[in-house]
Amino acid sequence: MSLVVVEDLAKSYRDVRALDGISFEIPEGSVLGLLGPNGCGKTTTVSILSTLQRPTAGRCSVAGYDVVDDAGRVRELISLTGQYAALEGSLTTRENIAMFGRLTGLPRRETRSRLEEVAETFGLVEFMDRKVSELSGGMRRRVDIAAALVTRPKVLFLDEPTTGLDPRSRASVWETVSTLRTEGITVLLTTQYLEEADRLADDLVLLDHGRVVEQGTPEQLKQRAGSAVCEITLLDSADLDRTRTALREFEEIEAATGGGDQRPRLSVAAPDELGTVGTVVATLQRASIPVFESPCDVRLSTRCSSS
Ligand SMILES: Nc1ncnc2c1ncn2[C@@H]1O[C@H](COP(=O)(O)OP(=O)(O)OP(=O)(O)O)[C@@H](O)[C@H]1O
Ligand SMILES: [Mg+2]
Repeated sequence: MSLVVVEDLAKSYRDVRALDGISFEIPEGSVLGLLGPNGCGKTTTVSILSTLQRPTAGRCSVAGYDVVDDAGRVRELISLTGQYAALEGSLTTRENIAMFGRLTGLPRRETRSRLEEVAETFGLVEFMDRKVSELSGGMRRRVDIAAALVTRPKVLFLDEPTTGLDPRSRASVWETVSTLRTEGITVLLTTQYLEEADRLADDLVLLDHGRVVEQGTPEQLKQRAGSAVCEITLLDSADLDRTRTALREFEEIEAATGGGDQRPRLSVAAPDELGTVGTVVATLQRASIPVFESPCDVRLSTRCSSS
């Protein structure tokens, strides 16, 4: 079952189209890596899923609750660790985590027992009475994640948990994320590092300029990287299902309904490059499917290499 569902999500800030119709799902108990360069829309996606911002179009839900209509229910199920650690340096680790518990309405007694549990789980016992300002960047990040877990969320959003950390601190955060998996928490993690996504995520979504450019398991993405794709742009979204059926012999890479120009698109693997393009065009003609300004909109392109 998918715990998080994102459907055709779009977000514009005045003239900036931060998200341009992205879709993905996160199965319960798995880790999804949202990967992409600066400004591709990672934080925007996380902010909408965690009810901090409203989408311009599209829908998202957590455990079946809509992030706009049922924002209160969604907030009870999630926790967020933002791109910039939100800890008070002059307080100790224990005080920071306790403050987080109280801010989220957790009863005092439960906060106390939960504190000991998260300290144990995340290897923070010996740092509990140290001031956060005296901890290393990696330790701070771990405290930040532990604080987000004090309320036992079902879904945790981690926005760039390792950006700016040295390799050792990064490894320590990786260990923390692996622990989340064993605790059965569903995680959405954003990152700019392919290596990190590969190591931590069950599934990857590659974003660029607010669009999904690739989606799949790390293995699938590695196999596809750099190989040829035949991209078909259709005239009418009503033709998308028909086209998928006509092209069922080809390996589908992506089917999207609303791009910037609102034309539906379908991409299939093109192992024979132009040869595949020829077969695709012939197949579409046989099925009487009108492609946009055929045949120039059956194009050959190269899949984004993600490194
Ligand atoms: N509040 C805002 N007002 C206007 N534009 C915004 C706002 N927030 C984000 N943007 C724009 O939306 C786009 C996506 O931004 P976002 O912060 O989601 O990217 P990101 O992938 O998280 O980048 P980074 O890796 O740098 O954190 C960018 O072009 C950004 O400038
Ligand atoms: Mg960001």
